[in-house]
Amino acid sequence: MRRKLVAGNWKMNGSRESIKALLDGIKSGLDSVGNAGVAVCPPAVYISDVMAQLEGTAVAVGAQNCATEASGAYTGEIAVAMIKDCGCQYIIVGHSERRTLYGEDDAVVAKKFAAVRTAGLTPILCVGETLAEREAGVTEAVIARQLDAVIELEGIAAIGDSVIAYEPVWAIGTGMTATPEQAQDVHAFIRGKLAGLDAAVAENVVIQYGGSVKGSNAAELFAKPDIDGGLIGGAALDPEDFLAICRAAG
Ligand code: 13P
Repeated sequence: MRRKLVAGNWKMNGSRESIKALLDGIKSGLDSVGNAGVAVCPPAVYISDVMAQLEGTAVAVGAQNCATEASGAYTGEIAVAMIKDCGCQYIIVGHSERRTLYGEDDAVVAKKFAAVRTAGLTPILCVGETLAEREAGVTEAVIARQLDAVIELEGIAAIGDSVIAYEPVWAIGTGMTATPEQAQDVHAFIRGKLAGLDAAVAENVVIQYGGSVKGSNAAELFAKPDIDGGLIGGAALDPEDFLAICRAAG
């Protein structure tokens, strides 16, 4: 039985002060969340602060990005081992903002995915189509290509230790959520594609939905059979909204 996972991707938002208020709010409502897994992914400079503030809670911490390389002369980069050293469990790889704004192609994303797994952390692998790709009818082909890049490098078993996040690019930060049916169709496609390679991996892998998830629409998304929680952007910055999403998953 898959356990739903709600992860907040804070992106490049927050300050020490606002993060303390956000975490105080989240911690005060954790009793009501039920049995969903909960994680937050702060900007890297705040990971240690966040870890300290979440000590003794069941909330996991993740990073939003990592280097492809293990260590060395890579100014400005942050290695997976450093992220692990700070206590993180998850690292987001292949977010569409990294793909489009920072030119990360499938090969780079696959390399990061491999680096995360080598360290024993859990990658949250983001996949998703742009609006133009959806309108051109190539949604499934795009997602298959994004998954295949990782599977070809790391093998299908690696997907079993990972989290996949389906994030249609057109739904991110736009308020334009995919309908539960649109999301479920793609989630079912992903699970079906994986099942063609390994039925157990497909059955067990957590597939999150991301893209304008809010407290008000989470329950109907998470009610779909192949949607195992969410990767939350804007709404994860509001403790009440984030907790409402966690409750919808729990
Ligand atoms: P929003 O929830 O703000 O649409 O962002 C989704 C996202 O990109 C999470 O990674």
